[in-house]
Amino acid sequence: MNMRLIALTSVLLAVSATAPAADPPTASQELRSVLRETGSAVRGEQLFKNCIACHGQDGNGKPGGDIPVIAAQHQRVIAKQLVDYRHAERWDPQMETVAASHALTGPRDIADVAAFISVQRRDTGRTGLGDGKQLETGRSIYGRDCIGCHGADGEGNGVSLVPRLAGQHYRYLLRQLHDTLEQRRPNMPPPHPQLLDKLGVAELTGLADYLARLDPPRRVVTP
Ligand code: HEC
Ligand code: HEC
Repeated sequence: MNMRLIALTSVLLAVSATAPAADPPTASQELRSVLRETGSAVRGEQLFKNCIACHGQDGNGKPGGDIPVIAAQHQRVIAKQLVDYRHAERWDPQMETVAASHALTGPRDIADVAAFISVQRRDTGRTGLGDGKQLETGRSIYGRDCIGCHGADGEGNGVSLVPRLAGQHYRYLLRQLHDTLEQRRPNMPPPHPQLLDKLGVAELTGLADYLARLDPPRRVVTP
């Protein structure tokens, strides 16, 4: 064997020894990698072009109930949801396709697009609302069952991955509550199913309507 061939063979052996076919990361491994990234909103703005067709130019979604507002959601919460869709831990045919597409190649893209979305303005003047008849009921259930995690103003908590609910579209919120009850949203952790199971129609509509009308700071920036 000549020297070049020996050199080439040893390079190939070294490569095959150090790079065995890697298993794709699990959802929790991928989330850990995403959360280690700082996220660049400047780069994220380019990636957000893939989201505008549904979520709108400014990420405010649509009041009809299909498309949530994502503007001013906590960066880490957006990232968690994208990872969950990629790994079928949360189900939606459209989002599973987008989140796993070439538009978001990996942890850095996810962190960047989430960084951009989280600093957009939530336009609560355009939030879809309910009929306003069950607000008192909604307020009291929220104060009893939900406030401990989602916060006094529905502001959530980016550090512990609790979504901001304030100013989310009424119909989308109501759909998530029903999806949870009917086991179509697997990533809704306990105690949601247990708490929601005890509630009737008036209480669920009241919760969604109350939350849609909450108006904490329009731009939420958390670590
Ligand atoms: C083809 C339409 C479509 C496109 C394009 C799209 N989305 Fe979505 N998105 C949806 C729908 C529908 C939902 C609600 C799905 C559900 O109920 O789980 C959603 C939900 C989400 C959620 C969850 C919000 C929450 O409150 O939990 C996030 C985060 C999100 N999208 C981010 C993105 C990002 C980032 C992009 C671009 C890279 C994008 N979406 C592109 C339709 C779309
Ligand atoms: C123990 C803490 C905790 C309690 C109590 C709690 N939540 Fe949550 N909630 C969370 C977390 C964490 C998530 C994010 C789950 C995920 O990763 O998808 C969430 C998600 C949600 C979502 C989905 C938001 C979205 O953008 O899609 C809704 C709606 C919601 N909660 C409503 C409620 C309501 C209503 C109550 C009271 C009846 C409640 N939660 C009580 C922690 C809590």
